[in-house]
Amino acid sequence: MKWISIELTSLNSNEVQTIYINGKKLLLVSKEESFFVFASKCPHAGADLSNAWCKGDFLVCPVHRYQYQLLNGRGAPGQGDYLKNYPTKIENGKLWIGFKKPWFRFW
Ligand code: FES
Repeated sequence: MKWISIELTSLNSNEVQTIYINGKKLLLVSKEESFFVFASKCPHAGADLSNAWCKGDFLVCPVHRYQYQLLNGRGAPGQGDYLKNYPTKIENGKLWIGFKKPWFRFW
């Protein structure tokens, strides 16, 4: 796992923000004291999730209103899909986002 840090931003709870990590567009979601990071494309039909919003413990896609759990990216019951999520941790006053290293890279 490769961890990349960003400055902690002051988001309101349930706020969704677009961030870029090494040119990769991601979503940063704040929920109370926790931060969640997701891919920015909806797994249903590939919509941009920049304008998604939170509803309870779910992120809602603005196009067809599919919902994904903030905790793990799992689709609401009946959807059978997942939104890619990235692990986060707060250390030394920064938000760290974890990226899996590809298994095929040796250098
Ligand atoms: S593209 Fe997101 S719910 Fe259809």
